[in-house]
Amino acid sequence: MTLQRSRPRLMILDDPGAVDRRVAELIADLIREKPECVLGLATGGTPVGAYRELVGMHQQQSLDFSRLTTFNLDEYVGLSGDHPQSYRYFMQHHLFDHVNVQPSRTHVPNGRARDIDREAREYEKKIDSAGGIDLQLLGIGSNGHIAFNEPGSPIESRTRTVELTAETIEDNARFFETADEVPGTAITMGIGTILESKRIVLMATGDAKADAVRTAVEDDPDPINPASLLQLHSNVTFVLDRAAAGGLSTSGSR
Ligand code: GLP
Repeated sequence: MTLQRSRPRLMILDDPGAVDRRVAELIADLIREKPECVLGLATGGTPVGAYRELVGMHQQQSLDFSRLTTFNLDEYVGLSGDHPQSYRYFMQHHLFDHVNVQPSRTHVPNGRARDIDREAREYEKKIDSAGGIDLQLLGIGSNGHIAFNEPGSPIESRTRTVELTAETIEDNARFFETADEVPGTAITMGIGTILESKRIVLMATGDAKADAVRTAVEDDPDPINPASLLQLHSNVTFVLDRAAAGGLSTSGSR
């Protein structure tokens, strides 16, 4: 892990559709170059369009997922993989069921593990045994969280259980019937785990993310803004639409 501060590369595109296509292309380029790559995947509303693009590339251009391995960032504690709001279900629904990935090579933390601390330790070991993550896709929470690393998460944190903030529960309540149904606890890769990925691609769209993006790119790295810690990695790309880039004082490449 490089702990020198460096500026994330910025790709600022016209609209969310362009962000989806660019992110899918970055992932597809890696799959073509290194068919046995290890992908770190994210959930939330933001990556849905990029997954749709990847499914299209599989169907129309035979993009081959058969040799790669995936690790998802996080999962709600208490939800089984067949719960419609679980992140395992999300991944099956938006990507895995529609491409030729080998099911045994897709990994999402088990939110129903009897010993959740052990599950966390084993998840780390599985990432290591796979050779580490080549490209980690991230979204960003409106409070700057990445995966479920809420403000205050230590830079050296590893996969572990965490309590979600009221803000995150409220943000994610849109996927549930009521906010009361959102689990208050999750299992998540840590900041340290994420920073060990060889490359990181963070995608964000819409003006609700503009403050979090500005803080992540322009403020000093500080655990109070988890995404700002990405400045301590030397190969990070932010793929943004104009709205999400709206708070930045500098512009990026197109
Ligand atoms: C959740 C996920 C994060 C994601 C965030 C933003 O909290 N754990 O990985 O980045 O939501 O989600 P959305 O893309 O829906 O705004």
